[in-house]
Amino acid sequence: MTETVHQIEQEARERLALAHSADELENIRIYFLGKKGKLASLMEQLKTLSGEERKSYGREVNQLKAFLENALQSKKAGFGPVRQEGELFDETLPGIPPRTGTVHPITQTIDEITRIFERLGFEVAEGPEIETEFHNFTALNIPLDHPSRDSFDTFYTTSGHLLRSQTSTVQIRVMQARKPPLRIIAPGRVYRPDAVDASHSFMFHQMEGLMVDDRITFSDLKGILHLFLRELFGKETKIRFRPHFFPFTEPSVEVDLRWGKGWLEILGAGSVDPNVFEAVGYDPKKVQGFAFGLGVERIAMLRHGIDDIRLFYENDLRFLKQFS
Ligand code: PHE
Repeated sequence: MTETVHQIEQEARERLALAHSADELENIRIYFLGKKGKLASLMEQLKTLSGEERKSYGREVNQLKAFLENALQSKKAGFGPVRQEGELFDETLPGIPPRTGTVHPITQTIDEITRIFERLGFEVAEGPEIETEFHNFTALNIPLDHPSRDSFDTFYTTSGHLLRSQTSTVQIRVMQARKPPLRIIAPGRVYRPDAVDASHSFMFHQMEGLMVDDRITFSDLKGILHLFLRELFGKETKIRFRPHFFPFTEPSVEVDLRWGKGWLEILGAGSVDPNVFEAVGYDPKKVQGFAFGLGVERIAMLRHGIDDIRLFYENDLRFLKQFS
């Protein structure tokens, strides 16, 4: 008979777990606790017993009853307020909208930039965040004594790897794996051991661009970047190219955006250095290309008037909800 109490408890647990409405719970209650319910028939059997047996059996049935009442109660509470009989129900009231998430502003910015470049025939490429020195530095023509290789500027693992400090690594990976023509855009996280403040974070996002073919000139780079920045910041956008140096591009530029009365640096770019082509096994006499890299947070901050980079990483709903 103990078996039977046990079996009924099993059955009750299973049915409770599957119940998804107050109506179903009510059916379960009637089935087990109703006048002609399962527990009532267990109680019937009580009459056939005597003495100790009767006592312990009675205790088990009562425990099961208490368990059922509790479980029904707490499950019901989980379904929210239940209408009482006779209570009016206004079906014209608006429903309670389910809470939904929103796309993070950094992801939104990456998506927007990606869409612009996809229209220009670029495809998205990705690479690992844990990288080799070869992909992050050597193949990018960054000499061994370059300050960016210093452990103050790059996170190294104990196994001789590093956390990539730039998405330029993806240029190398794509060129190693494929032959030109190439038009890729590579969004992703990068890491630098910077002290965190309103404009620095040890992790942020970059987007890399790379175009390689048998004849790609600096004018192609200028044209594409101009078009891109006007799409992103509006038709009136003014930009300027300033000479700069990057080991992996030659010549190199920084591109500035007209902002109020001044200029704001917005991205780095240049023609792919022949040494980079050699490092990936391309013939620098047969191919040409350009590359550029931009900081996603910086662009999102400019576009939305955000003055503290840390807001992106704090998961504060008051901030995130503004980007729904
Ligand atoms: N990797 C450079 C940086 O992190 C940006 C860059 C990319 C510059 C490609 C030129 C070409 O600053």
